[in-house]
Amino acid sequence: MNNNRIVKHPVLGDLENKKPITFTYDQKILQGYEGDTIASALLANGIRLLRVHEESGTPRGIYCNIGHCYECRMKVNQTSGVRACLTELVEDMMIESGKMQALPFPQNMNAEDLPRTYAEFAKKCAGKKEDAPHV
Ligand code: FES
Repeated sequence: MNNNRIVKHPVLGDLENKKPITFTYDQKILQGYEGDTIASALLANGIRLLRVHEESGTPRGIYCNIGHCYECRMKVNQTSGVRACLTELVEDMMIESGKMQALPFPQNMNAEDLPRTYAEFAKKCAGKKEDAPHV
């Protein structure tokens, strides 16, 4: 499905002359073309949501499209934080949307019990080895 593509362009050329590239996005097999960025290939496939905010879960997509805002961060071939707008699509690339992070404390925790400083945070994490910050 490439409904959102410009198939003839006076500067970029004709789409029919571009090599197709197969990749996966959240385990779905999709197609892009040589010269695509991850962002352009996903947009051409109708995908606008690239990740959710790590804490709030609100949707994020392409914002600046020039590498400044970092809103398009995705997981690519097991590497997190890859900017979709700057990264060229490659054959068999495995792309995953960004997910909401697990909260370090229970969501129903009283506000007065939340750590106010990094030292308090480190102290609360002591004993929870996998969450403990490196100090
Ligand atoms: S959309 Fe802003 S850095 Fe990619």
